[in-house]
Amino acid sequence: MKVAVPRETAGGEARVAATPDTVKRLVGLGATVAVEAGAGVASRILDEDYVAAGATIAPDAGSALADADVVLTVRRPTPELAAHIKRGALVVGIMDPYGNREALQQMADAGLVAVAMELMPRITRAQVMDVLSSQANLAGYQAVLDAAYVYDRAMPMMMTAAGTVPAARVFVMGAGVAGLQAIATARRLGAVVSATDVRPASKEQVESLGGKFVAVEDDEFKQAETAAGYAKPMSPEYQAKQAALVAEHIKKQDIVITTALIPGRPAPRLVTSAMIATMKPGSVLVDLAVERGGNVEGAVPGEVVDIGHVKVVGHLNVAGRIAASASQLYAKNLYAFVETLIDKEKKALAVNYEDELVKATVLTRDGAIVHPSFQS
Ligand code: NAI
Repeated sequence: MKVAVPRETAGGEARVAATPDTVKRLVGLGATVAVEAGAGVASRILDEDYVAAGATIAPDAGSALADADVVLTVRRPTPELAAHIKRGALVVGIMDPYGNREALQQMADAGLVAVAMELMPRITRAQVMDVLSSQANLAGYQAVLDAAYVYDRAMPMMMTAAGTVPAARVFVMGAGVAGLQAIATARRLGAVVSATDVRPASKEQVESLGGKFVAVEDDEFKQAETAAGYAKPMSPEYQAKQAALVAEHIKKQDIVITTALIPGRPAPRLVTSAMIATMKPGSVLVDLAVERGGNVEGAVPGEVVDIGHVKVVGHLNVAGRIAASASQLYAKNLYAFVETLIDKEKKALAVNYEDELVKATVLTRDGAIVHPSFQS
């Protein structure tokens, strides 16, 4: 059983899908592990660290991937990379399947068993495999640091002999995993924090972190959560009421961090240009949803732009900006899943395609797209 860890090729991807710790565990399960030279460097893991854990270092992607039964990646493999992977091999990573049908078909045509870790059900057994949570948590933290970096005032209140600097007012829109970590981080930096979400369950979570909850709490709000705990798209009427409330609130904020997402849909537009125009000079917006269409009008993917006197931060792959920590957690998520696919007696792969975790995450198999959500 060979496990391969190629170097990520997507621009700016600093994360890696295995750490010395997970390599050691895989070797313990009877795998041979080949890591492409330099795969961990951007996450501060050196080739010799992998070797010490029991891996071999392959000079290039081709030799790392040759004959691999399992490929661990951060991003979906490019067609060039996929060409090196044998038919029937499992490729486990963040596959970004929505709206990328052509890429899914290419993986199917290449005979890969593509496993999308972001589709892992959020059940207790799979918590340790939840890449959305592990990465969103770090992204929420990093978003506050990114905001603080471009904010040219202090975050905490400072009482000095020369006068008092007021605490920054931080408003977090979307209080899921990333948003809750952003609230906690901003609080640790001494900001006065408020937050909004459309899921009623988030109110108590925001308040327990010391944030003030701001939302239109009508009947629609009280039912706005799916059984899986995700947000539902809200009616135009609700959105208008919520927008009016937010517009009033935003005027008084120094930093706004938006994290609002609805799985499989474009991100809801929450902050309009008209709202930005009411913000104070030097205010900062960080749009963590920019990759999925953006919560903030005018946010530019991958850039920090000035809209009037307000800075709008649109960094991509924010978890990748804190890569050493992100890789550590991500690699552990992957290991926890792959471990369940291995027969520990026989020290061989034994994938149970009827297992609910496997069913929920396998996109392609036997030359076809097999996941029900992506078949048409
Ligand atoms: P997400 O990344 O899909 O969305 C982020 C947040 O944006 C969510 O809280 C969502 O309600 C909010 N949002 C969507 N539309 C909005 C709008 N128009 N205005 C304001 N906010 C809006 O969600 P994430 O962070 O992945 O978490 C979703 C839920 O899943 C949370 O309740 C979380 O606690 C829960 N969860 C459960 C886990 C488990 O049981 N194992 C693990 C991780 C999360």
